[in-house]
Amino acid sequence: MFTLSKDMETGVEKIDSQHRELINRINRLLAAGDNTTSEAETRKTIDYLGEYVVKHFGDEEELQIISKYPKYAEHKEKHAIFINDFSKMKSEFMGKSDSFEFSMKLNNSLISWIEKHIKGDDAEFGKYYKAQTL
Ligand SMILES: [Fe+2]
Repeated sequence: MFTLSKDMETGVEKIDSQHRELINRINRLLAAGDNTTSEAETRKTIDYLGEYVVKHFGDEEELQIISKYPKYAEHKEKHAIFINDFSKMKSEFMGKSDSFEFSMKLNNSLISWIEKHIKGDDAEFGKYYKAQTL
């Protein structure tokens, strides 16, 4: 089970709570990879996660615009690349016969990207945002 560890907190309440929700949805996908979940169900779980990723990135970018974050364009680009990769993975899933193996692969790459992004890019923005709003 994937959790939001202390070193993944940005200190910005809205972002941290959304990261928790994001991780909840990843965990649902992890649970769907147990081989007993139907492909239709797994597909629904992937969509459920994908929708939240888009919402969360949008909210984060909005905070960056409001606070005039100098690295906004760069950060937004990383989000866009992730969304693009995610939808590629999603369409790959549609044509896969071994959905168990695929969802494991998907989970591993999702988790490592999100963890790295939260600890790096989001932590950096969190610091900036707090300094602007205090
Ligand atoms: Fe981000």
